[in-house]
Amino acid sequence: MTQTTSFLLNRWYVAALSSEVSDTPLARTIAGQKVVLYRDSKGDIIALEDRCAHRQAPLSLGEVVGDNIQCGYHGLTFDREGTCVRVPSQKLIPPDACVRPYPAAEKQGFVHLWTGHRTPTSEETPFDFPFAAMDGLNARYAALSGKFDYRLLIDNLMDLTHLGFTHKNTIGTGGVAESGTAKTERQGDRVIVTREMENIAPAPTHVEVTGYSGNVDRWQIIEFIPPCFISLQVGNAKHGTGGFNADDKDKLINRRTLHIATPEAENTTHYFWVSTYPSDSMTPDQEQTIYDRTLEVLDEDVRMIEGQQTRYDPDFSMIDINEDAGQLSMRATLERLIAEERASAS
Ligand code: FES
Ligand SMILES: [Fe+2]
Repeated sequence: MTQTTSFLLNRWYVAALSSEVSDTPLARTIAGQKVVLYRDSKGDIIALEDRCAHRQAPLSLGEVVGDNIQCGYHGLTFDREGTCVRVPSQKLIPPDACVRPYPAAEKQGFVHLWTGHRTPTSEETPFDFPFAAMDGLNARYAALSGKFDYRLLIDNLMDLTHLGFTHKNTIGTGGVAESGTAKTERQGDRVIVTREMENIAPAPTHVEVTGYSGNVDRWQIIEFIPPCFISLQVGNAKHGTGGFNADDKDKLINRRTLHIATPEAENTTHYFWVSTYPSDSMTPDQEQTIYDRTLEVLDEDVRMIEGQQTRYDPDFSMIDINEDAGQLSMRATLERLIAEERASAS
């Protein structure tokens, strides 16, 4: 297999929220591959190449019949393995009438798809975010998309000083950029950026939700896990109570959030999000306010990065600043992994 893309292929990618997949076919392009997703009669996820073996019509324009999918053009029907089991106009089924099946799995509210041409090993499992299915934590989900290279979205999440500017009307304040001390470290293929901001003004959304307008100590622990997962621990506590290590009663905001930048194709990205919080830390109204503001925040990011993409020239000589350390380390890691995958495939 020759690989020329900017993304890894021998990986599990999140292809959809669980709630998006039903017994109506769903078309998705993941890492450049067109797939159709649906649920069989038991509710299991089926993923097949979205191209009929007959005349290449999208199977996603067909319908689910029992556990199989029937092409909407001339009615050829394929089972969960992608094998044609019916040709309505004849008895004999051509032996090579099949479409590519994809390994798929459902976990913690997400549908994961393996895009490699080889089978995943037992160690290669879908990303684990246990907080999304943990007693005592509530989880909220979102799915967006953007017209940009998936790595620009990861860049965005590796440097959260942008909150003070891109999100100054919601979750950011100037202090987020000006008061933080960032530490970047690598653990294997993971890159972790830790920022602690002491004695800064609370962000507008946080005042709106908690009613607390005194200064806070704020933390952002950002972890990049290849190929495109960014796990965040973010929060703030009343100033002087210990920040990340404060007692729960002094924590005003305390969340574990996963951002997922699944490449759709070279310059388009699926953006999935789940955020969790202790069930007893927010009333439903408070949480709804946080959720509504977060959707505004995600949209602000998508618009900024789409704008960036319209100007983005990979050969342009960009300047770097200190806060880019996490991004640069992430980019270097991805480049190395892609080069290794290419080398093993050639
Ligand atoms: S293209 Fe699918 S049945 Fe003809
Ligand atoms: Fe942002």
